[in-house]
Amino acid sequence: MGSNATAEAVLTIADLIRDQATTENAEVIAWVTEVAELTKPETVVWCDGSQDEWNRITTEMVEAGSLIRLDKNLRPGSYLARSHPADVARVEDRTFICSENEADAGPTNNWMAPADMKAELNPLFEGSMRGRTMYIVPFSMGPVGGAITQLGIEITDSPYAVLNMRIMTRMGQSALDGITPGSEWVRTVHSVGAPLECGQEDVAWPCSDTKYITHFPETLEVWSYGSGYGGNALLSKKCFALRIASVMGKNEGWLAEHMLLLKLTNTETNKAYHLTAAFPSACGKTNLAMLQPTIPGWKVETIGDDISWLRPGNDGRLYAINPEAGFFGVAPGTGETTNPVAVETMWGNTIFTNVALTDDGDVWWEGKTNEVPDHLIDWQGNDWTPDSGRVAAHPNSRFTVPIQQTPTLAQDWYEQNGVPLDAILFGGRRATNIPLVAKSLSWEHGVFMGATVSSEKTAAQEGTVGELRRDPFAMLPFCGYNMADYWGHWLEIGKKLGDKAPKIFQVNWFRKGADGRFLWPGFGDNSRVIDWVIRSVEGDVSGETTSIGTVPAAGELKLDGLNLPEADLAELFAIDPASWLAEADLTEEFFAQFGDRLPAEMTAQLAGLRGRLSS
Ligand code: PEP
Ligand code: NA
Ligand code: MN
Repeated sequence: MGSNATAEAVLTIADLIRDQATTENAEVIAWVTEVAELTKPETVVWCDGSQDEWNRITTEMVEAGSLIRLDKNLRPGSYLARSHPADVARVEDRTFICSENEADAGPTNNWMAPADMKAELNPLFEGSMRGRTMYIVPFSMGPVGGAITQLGIEITDSPYAVLNMRIMTRMGQSALDGITPGSEWVRTVHSVGAPLECGQEDVAWPCSDTKYITHFPETLEVWSYGSGYGGNALLSKKCFALRIASVMGKNEGWLAEHMLLLKLTNTETNKAYHLTAAFPSACGKTNLAMLQPTIPGWKVETIGDDISWLRPGNDGRLYAINPEAGFFGVAPGTGETTNPVAVETMWGNTIFTNVALTDDGDVWWEGKTNEVPDHLIDWQGNDWTPDSGRVAAHPNSRFTVPIQQTPTLAQDWYEQNGVPLDAILFGGRRATNIPLVAKSLSWEHGVFMGATVSSEKTAAQEGTVGELRRDPFAMLPFCGYNMADYWGHWLEIGKKLGDKAPKIFQVNWFRKGADGRFLWPGFGDNSRVIDWVIRSVEGDVSGETTSIGTVPAAGELKLDGLNLPEADLAELFAIDPASWLAEADLTEEFFAQFGDRLPAEMTAQLAGLRGRLSS
């Protein structure tokens, strides 16, 4: 720089950040400055969450070739993004929990000491935003000021992430205004890890072969490097709202859960109920969140499809919010027949990722319509016809859509302090053993049901249990601390709630007959199970107590109009003690990895189950 440099020419990145800051919070400004000095972006944008900002970023991305604007009449305000072919899903093997002590991350997480991970990340983040814009994205998880709400900021060099964050969270100025000096908030940093050298042309979807999704639960930080995709890049979602929040909840007496949230209104009494449900990925969580009942008597409304935060309220009951503001749903399999509500929800203002493009500028994916288009551009940008011999949309292609467009949205989504919970459901994809529905014998037994959620890996033979993929509470990839301590925390919350605790149920839509056929139709008919669940909570049905829980007594489950053969009904609820005892042995093996962190109550539950099965 020459000796005659003007004052402007020596403006540092720190000056730029301070000049443009839309907050006076020195803590925020210092953190943003520190990240910028490390990552060295070309420019900085403090996001306000406005429509103008959305319009500006989408226009820039369309011009740069990283978004395709869909036909204005067919899909107004909507865009298609195509990712790098190797950046299409969450990367669990690159996901780390960096607690000071390895035992606090537990045996089910990848762990590295915080200082070691920071030392590994530092050279990667050093200059990682060169040539790019650094966006500062303040967001609120839950209504700003709500009793269960938490605030965060994502710093990212991905405009795609900014647009998705605007849909998925309450993003913008009011969230930033809520971050006051000394208050608790979560710091998240995201870089696609693809700095641009001077004059270097950008690609449509920048990312890196090197990926790190890292969590620092003790300092409430997330650092994500190398991926632009979904849960790797929208740090409010799995990283904050599940992994970091689960640790915050453990420390502060609440729960961050991988659960949908539903409102059910009995149309005769007008009484409303609320239910959460945890299922592993690919068990139809979004479909159940948008349930269209096949039996009369219930109005079902959606509050959330993926994440629920639960906190004891002043009246001693457990209250729930959906901390998110949108859906990031899997597109394939979402169609008029399987989920008409989701199809209606994404009429416009939707970002599609890795679906196919139709010749008239709309989107398509496998399962969207029964009729398959003659010609498409597939998710990688290539010509596609039905005889191409490959899928048109990536199996993990997504729609990102504002929750407020859901035709079945409950007004309760806006509730500042959440809704009181009546029932909690746990389910997996089980061909064997697990009945259609069973009520837990106690809160502790319910925690045991949650801890033993699993799906069969392979087709099982009759009378045996297949190899089980364990996914306790559907939280295996999302629990930010030792899973055994997490079960202990659930037991503690139950003690605190006492008889005001919601009732816990186990469900299984996927049981198969000896002939390999699904025994239960699922989808809208799951309303029959939920009807029994709520009547059980109300004490209108008493069920029949068995060794594994309380199941519907004869005639209690509403089956009219279903034409379910008696034999299938019997098989849906069949309990084979030998097969259950074999599963108990597998559970013992599964529990063993937690050593002395396993709560004694879990061992007692397993012993209790074995005792009941053997007597
Ligand atoms: C994701 O993969 O980014 C994601 C949100 O995961 P899931 O659909 O499993 O909830
Ligand atoms: Na995924
Ligand atoms: Mn999920």
